[in-house]
Amino acid sequence: MASPPIMRTIADLRSAVALWRRAEESVGLVPTMGALHDGHLSLVKRARQQCRRAVVSIFVNPTQFGPNEDFQLYPRDLDGDAAKLATVGADAIFAPQVAEMYPEGAVTAVTVSGLTEGLCGPFRPGHFQGVATIVTKLLLQCLPDAGFFGEKDYQQLQVIRQLARDLDIPVRIEGVPTFRESDGLALSSRNAYLTPAERAIAPTLHRVLRQAAADMEAGGTASATTDRGKRELFGAGFSRLDYLDVVDAVTLKKIERLERPARVAAAAWLGKTRLIDNLPVAF
Ligand code: PAF
Repeated sequence: MASPPIMRTIADLRSAVALWRRAEESVGLVPTMGALHDGHLSLVKRARQQCRRAVVSIFVNPTQFGPNEDFQLYPRDLDGDAAKLATVGADAIFAPQVAEMYPEGAVTAVTVSGLTEGLCGPFRPGHFQGVATIVTKLLLQCLPDAGFFGEKDYQQLQVIRQLARDLDIPVRIEGVPTFRESDGLALSSRNAYLTPAERAIAPTLHRVLRQAAADMEAGGTASATTDRGKRELFGAGFSRLDYLDVVDAVTLKKIERLERPARVAAAAWLGKTRLIDNLPVAF
């Protein structure tokens, strides 16, 4: 299958979408930072099931990386990404340069409070403002019927749902379940940073979250559940833990006992690589 056309400007994106709209075709947008893996492709497949046209944006967004984070190192492979997108029938790729998305003099940002105060928020100052700003821009540039986001970044998904609601952006936000390796490791572009020894330890994160969800569902307290999980992560060889929390599935506030649907979520380090993952806790 031929690679989808690559559009570099907002004007070209809007022209393509306008043509589809004239033909009364629905449009799905899958925002990504490239380095595409099967998890991303599952988002595109979902978009293709729900919409006639699927646009995939590829933009490594500088404003969501902290000064000591991996913006420069972040893997970039547009040709490889385009070839993968051809296999799942994406209709177009929107791959703007930084100056197209953040022209000289741009000073407006989108801040979502509350939801960004826990979990990754304190460990990645400015991250969610960067995500909220770029996703708002992408949604307004493309004006799709639906935007597709992975549940692996559950806090990000909730932030995006909230901003779309608060800013009256006429789009459906669809969360797509996490795509996992057969040993449970959630697919992430950052898994490429893991050494073979770290890769062997990494699935423990999913195992610990599964156990934690089961403990909570069986009536456990969050403090006992997370204490046990933390011991297991460090025992397995994780070098640092940003958090292992049980939170309300909607507000993302920490809970102690299960009284509504919840989520167990963790961010843990293996050497220089920070892995995040989360699972639902059924109520
Ligand atoms: O999840 C990601 O890859 C990014 O945070 C997103 C949503 C594409 C915004 O840059």
